[in-house]
Amino acid sequence: MTGSIRTLISQEQIQARVAELGAQIRAEFGEEPVTLVAVLKGSFLFVADLVRAIPGEVRVEFLGVASYHGGTSSTGVVQLTLDLRHGIEDQNVILVEDIVDTGLTIDYLVRMLKVRGPRALRVATLLDKPDNREVEVELDYVGFTIPDEFVVGYGLDLGELYRNLPYVAVYAP
Ligand code: IMP
Repeated sequence: MTGSIRTLISQEQIQARVAELGAQIRAEFGEEPVTLVAVLKGSFLFVADLVRAIPGEVRVEFLGVASYHGGTSSTGVVQLTLDLRHGIEDQNVILVEDIVDTGLTIDYLVRMLKVRGPRALRVATLLDKPDNREVEVELDYVGFTIPDEFVVGYGLDLGELYRNLPYVAVYAP
């Protein structure tokens, strides 16, 4: 993979913000159990840190979607590659995304989960890239709002690489 990367959000900034989000989520739900539904693959590191930042009863479930097919621009097609193993009826569900760009993925997932009867359905995303939005989506917990640049690291990939960077970086071809 040729191209250069430049740090946009450091490991320290991520850890501090994730701790804040975890505390905020716990404060809003009181002592009630919370179910994090992580959207694979990109959110695997974010959810691993977020789950440890929320004290008390927390479940973690996984959903798989493919929307980018290896390039740096959205195809607009959302494909479900892995569904939940358990029902979410009457649960406090937080969808956990790595990044919201056009909003198409999260819009699709919110509509899909709503019909399964959760008690509450919220959205947490590490990164929000609002410049490129095609559908309006409500984001309840946002780590960082970033400009319209392609980013990698901390779970986010380009052609399956760079997910292992402990920080978020801008990728320049
Ligand atoms: P959306 O459907 O356009 O909102 O895109 C959501 C998905 O596109 C994310 O879950 C990512 O997998 C991918 N994506 C969007 N922007 C980026 C980026 O800058 N870097 C890596 N993946 C991205």
